[in-house]
Amino acid sequence: MTTFHDRIAAELADIDAQGLTKPERVIASRQGPVIEVAGQKVLNFCANNYLGLAGDERVVQAGIKAQERWGAGTASVRFICGTLEIHKELERAIADYLGFEDTILFAAAFDANGGIFEPLFGAEDAIVSDSLNHASIIDGVRLCKAKRYRFANSDMDDLEAQLKQARADGARDIIIATDGAFSMDGYVAKLAEIRALADTYDALIMVDDCHATGFMGDKGRGSYAHCGVEVDFVTGTFGKALGGAMGGFICATSPVVALLKQRARPYLFSNALSPAVCGSSLEAIRIAAGDEGDALRQQLFANAARYRAAMTEAGFDLLPGEHPIIPVMLGDARLAQDMAARMLELGVYVIGFSFPVVPRGAARIRTQMSAAHTFDQIDLVVAAFKTAGKELGVIK
Ligand SMILES: Cc1ncc(COP(=O)(O)O)c(C=O)c1O
Repeated sequence: MTTFHDRIAAELADIDAQGLTKPERVIASRQGPVIEVAGQKVLNFCANNYLGLAGDERVVQAGIKAQERWGAGTASVRFICGTLEIHKELERAIADYLGFEDTILFAAAFDANGGIFEPLFGAEDAIVSDSLNHASIIDGVRLCKAKRYRFANSDMDDLEAQLKQARADGARDIIIATDGAFSMDGYVAKLAEIRALADTYDALIMVDDCHATGFMGDKGRGSYAHCGVEVDFVTGTFGKALGGAMGGFICATSPVVALLKQRARPYLFSNALSPAVCGSSLEAIRIAAGDEGDALRQQLFANAARYRAAMTEAGFDLLPGEHPIIPVMLGDARLAQDMAARMLELGVYVIGFSFPVVPRGAARIRTQMSAAHTFDQIDLVVAAFKTAGKELGVIK
């Protein structure tokens, strides 16, 4: 008889046989452009550390100071005895930065996306969701009773067809949900066109800006600022450009935030953000919103452009765009793994992405640029890719 544990072992063996195992590599240093792995200093080209603030001394010290002032944490959810002054300060700071009336904080953007739909939309409503949306949006939609519609990634004809259908089905309220920048491809959502369709069909727009907040658009306000439009709800994270610690948020109108604070389950039933995370995030917002943020954003996009041009010239198949997420397409999962392993030997830390985080047959190495990278480091990484790519038959 097959026991439970036999079944788990067989499933793991099957994942491994398909080349889909995702090992955890242990890092022995602070996050940054150079990290230490297995006693070796290597260039890191796969963090979401877009502005290079995750290891920034000011951001680290702000977290330490907040922890000294407020302790390790609240030992409570927000509405019991878990709301500190620093939580209110962070809510105000992110709302002001992103141009919204108010904010609700969560332990992670995963929770923000998990908590946004169910309290605001019921069975009479419709959610129209991009097919490439992040897993946490998909899970959040599943938890909600609203009728579900899906449109092919950034396909505006399909979005319009789904909006028409939702209206024909008699939806009360319709919300379009999309990533602002799609995390596996670096594609930016067509928010100007989405805005126009939302106006025509009287729909709301929710944008997950985890891969845009802090560095896209004017002052890094995000993908909607980049596209020059307004949206109704933004969900985001402090775990990427804004310091890289952790923690999520939803920015919206004051009444929406007020209702979410009464009903959003990941908010009501989970501990308040730690003071250290709040302190670091506040400092990261201060830097991102100012002139230094402008300089970091300029460097980030200059780095992305240099890397894209050199890798394209070398013959690699990149997904097009300008975003600092730059996927090197390889197709085969095992090849992506072998390539990442060889790159590590060559002193570059990158990771192969395969199913289920990307579709089967679309394995890749997702490289990501940071403002903290130098041109010299970028050139070294391109040289390493050329060596590994030739050895493995990816380029000539
Ligand atoms: C588009 C998108 N949404 C949400 C999340 C979740 O963010 P967090 O790490 O804050 O839970 C991620 C992180 O991978 C993401 O890429």
